Amino acid sequence: MDNLFKKKEISDLLTHTSGTKSLGSFDLTLMGIGTIIGTGIMVLTGIVAAKNAGPSIIFSFILAGIICGIVALCYAELGSALPISGSIYTYTYVSIGEFVAFLTGWCVLSIYLLSVAAVANSWTSYFGNFLDLFNLSIPKNLTNIPGKGGIMNLPAICVVLLITWLVSRGTKESKKVNNLMVLVKLCVIFLFIVVGSFYVKPSNWTPFFPFGIHGVITGAASVFFSFIGFDAIATSAEEVKNPQRDLAFGIIASLLISTVLYIGVCLVMTGVVPFKELNVPDAMAYVLKISGANLVSEIISLGAIIGMLAVILACIYASTRILFVMSRDQLLPRKFSSVHAQSNVPTFSTYAVGTIGAILAGFIDLKLLTNLVNISALLTFIMVTISLMILRKTKPELKRSFKVPFVPILPLITLICCIGLMINLPLTTWILFLVWLVLGMGVYLIYRKWGHS
Ligand code: ALA
Repeated sequence: MDNLFKKKEISDLLTHTSGTKSLGSFDLTLMGIGTIIGTGIMVLTGIVAAKNAGPSIIFSFILAGIICGIVALCYAELGSALPISGSIYTYTYVSIGEFVAFLTGWCVLSIYLLSVAAVANSWTSYFGNFLDLFNLSIPKNLTNIPGKGGIMNLPAICVVLLITWLVSRGTKESKKVNNLMVLVKLCVIFLFIVVGSFYVKPSNWTPFFPFGIHGVITGAASVFFSFIGFDAIATSAEEVKNPQRDLAFGIIASLLISTVLYIGVCLVMTGVVPFKELNVPDAMAYVLKISGANLVSEIISLGAIIGMLAVILACIYASTRILFVMSRDQLLPRKFSSVHAQSNVPTFSTYAVGTIGAILAGFIDLKLLTNLVNISALLTFIMVTISLMILRKTKPELKRSFKVPFVPILPLITLICCIGLMINLPLTTWILFLVWLVLGMGVYLIYRKWGHS
């Protein structure tokens, strides 16, 4: 029983840090933006604006952005104090103990794994829109999941498998590929904001709060997904040249840039068409198409196709990292931390993540996937604030190049806000999430009892 609360010694953790230290603050910022901007803004915004928040979705984004911003500050402090891979899994291992750390790692795994599936699932919409340009189309039963009258979302399955193959070959090592994809994505967002602003009719912003304050909060719980990714930066701490300085910079800068762009996109999107019309899976392309800007709409679809690939790639990568660290700590089978002799890639984990991600992407509903990511992320962020407060008390001597102001007030307010957003998520999400946690507890207990023998 005592082992459940066994804590990691920081000195033990630091002995693991090895490998090449090649990432600087600029790379980290791009990496953050690469993971953050994707399905959330390109797909969810339209659906959430139409169903939950109307034009006030801007406030949903601001609310979610502020919460993530404070969590980002906590990550920045923890990352600077403990520049070790594993991110929040490692922070809870040091501050609370093994069992909670395992469950936190389990949640982090679900965040990235389900994000792979969600982004791939919605990638199909922009892909379909792009194919229109060539008068091509994929039969509906091969793009729709069984729950929506189809057989499977085949393009989603294919794209996850393709990226998995690329990652297994060590493509992620190529910072250039990632940077290029991020650049494309940023250009697409700018293009949308600039071109779209010419079609804005301010009358579309009335009523601004069609669903009241409740709509803003429900919207914030849904669009939370759009901010997932800044946390992934902390998982690569071991490869950062100057983690004490660069991690904080990368996390905060990528979140700030994304939030500003999101607000711009929301203003334009809800200004161009009445919000009720936004219930489509490719809203950014759609609003320009019905405004008559067909060419720009197609360019945006192409950019979204490329940009979303960056998110899938980053999330596959982040999933394998968390598996790697948990396996290295002997909380999961050794196989997950074995790396290929030549490519140095954890091939087994990569294919495991890719296969499960592809199946989820092909058969599960997007809204369910994103809500499951949201609930896991909110719980994980709660653990971040708790770890921060505990470590301030128990390890005051750690060198922190960045410190969150107003501790414990600020982390406590954030914790309460996260709980508030969790409560606003649907019951099905809660049930499936609890099943996932119970499964995690089972894996932990079984592996701990029999896994090492
Ligand atoms: N934040 C990422 C996205 O919106 C996961 O696609």
